[in-house]
Amino acid sequence: MERDTVPHVVILPLPLLGHVKPMLTLAELLCDAGFLITFVNSDYNHDRLERVMDIPAFYNRSPGFRFVSISDGLPIDQPRLGPIIFQLFFNTRTVSKPLFRELLISLRQSTERSPPTCIIADGLMCFAIDVAEELGVPIITFPTHGSHGMWTIMHTSNLIEEGEVPFQEESDMDKPITSIPGMESLLRRRDLPGNCRLEVENPLMEFIISEASAMKRASTLILNTFEELEAPIIAHLSSFFDKVYTIGPLHALLKTRIKDSSQSVSSYGSLKKEDSSCMEWLNSKPLKSVIYVSFGSVVELSRDQLIEFWHGLVNSRKPFLWVVRPGLVEGNEELGQISEELEQGTKEKGYMVSWAPQEEILAHPSVGGFLTHSGWNSTLESIFEGVPMICWPQVADQQVNGRCVSNLWRVGFDMKDTCDRFIIEKIVRDLMEDKREEIIRSTNEIARMARGSVKENGSSYCNLERLIEDLRLMSL
Ligand code: UDX
Repeated sequence: MERDTVPHVVILPLPLLGHVKPMLTLAELLCDAGFLITFVNSDYNHDRLERVMDIPAFYNRSPGFRFVSISDGLPIDQPRLGPIIFQLFFNTRTVSKPLFRELLISLRQSTERSPPTCIIADGLMCFAIDVAEELGVPIITFPTHGSHGMWTIMHTSNLIEEGEVPFQEESDMDKPITSIPGMESLLRRRDLPGNCRLEVENPLMEFIISEASAMKRASTLILNTFEELEAPIIAHLSSFFDKVYTIGPLHALLKTRIKDSSQSVSSYGSLKKEDSSCMEWLNSKPLKSVIYVSFGSVVELSRDQLIEFWHGLVNSRKPFLWVVRPGLVEGNEELGQISEELEQGTKEKGYMVSWAPQEEILAHPSVGGFLTHSGWNSTLESIFEGVPMICWPQVADQQVNGRCVSNLWRVGFDMKDTCDRFIIEKIVRDLMEDKREEIIRSTNEIARMARGSVKENGSSYCNLERLIEDLRLMSL
């Protein structure tokens, strides 16, 4: 291939772990197809990546891949947690947009690599569409949520017009949602994204509505899902976009296509050092006996909520492996003294780590259930491994994901809006034993479909081939 016809894809994630990880995986798959990749990190995330990964060694193995970084407008030493994340959203437009524009211009002028032939930008970084249109570079949008989450977010303004949002009264919470086509019999108000509980006139709502509307200007959509899981909603999305590529679960597709994926850049995608000591502990546990607990990278718990979960887990008498990451408790509050009962129960049944190799854990034969915040990556990883879930969703698309898990795909139970030790104890027992029968068949069946989708000739595998081919055509 001539140098000037090599596709050069610029990849721009929202600078939060749950978005960076799937984008890195896609970047790696495209690099493996022979493309040049420029991956745009925030300075903050790049600093974190450099701490866990030998980037020069990676460049030697993948000479077409380059990282660049731009500011997200927040101080480099400030953890991206809690309300500060909203500031991060707003900064993308004021701080990141001009920096991204400058970057694209310099990439076009560079004599070292051929100019960008396409941009793939996060669905919450729509300023990139303005820049792409101005500079005449084709752009594809990649909202890293699932299709149901995405479709719901795209209907935020309809929900407001129809008076279904906002809602605050507990008595309104179980009313069915009627203004999202294709999801009429699925969602209740409590299943809508967390921001729908806020007043309509607030900057976050404005941001979400305008991003959802701008995204449609990108005519092409990539989704980290598989056709067999979300076909009806994917069909609805296809009426808004000329082309839709469903290529998930991306983490699994990477393993199919790149045989030695242990050295892959996306294995560092969680930007944190993993504590693998728990694998030995897992090895000592019986088949499907352990409940794995993790609330992802941004959800925070109050001290009281943490204590309720802890009691519920200890009282369930099931072995539990729990990720208690720094910053999990709101405001980094000290836990203070814990009861003897908790201490003893944890010694007997529990294992805690500050960050875990989650994909490996979910694939481990001793793991029989996952208590999760229902972030989309965690949901897909659990679905793929056939591990049923207990959902405790908090923000963004998580509420929708939890509802799909429990009432559409029937691969788990949803305990949203509750946090009580007795409920937790019971739901853990239900998942691991008492009501496992109710969900295990569909969990296995959907896992089988997920595996099929990433195999050669599977739907996601073929869609990635199509995407690669179309990106090649763009560079001619
Ligand atoms: C955020 C939002 O919360 C979520 O709603 C949205 O869908 C994506 O962005 P996050 O909290 O990061 O997600 O959760 P999730 O999407 O589940 O991603 C977490 C990732 O971190 C997963 O890929 C998981 O494997 C990884 N992880 C988590 C680890 O590697 N180790 C851990 O200990 C915990």
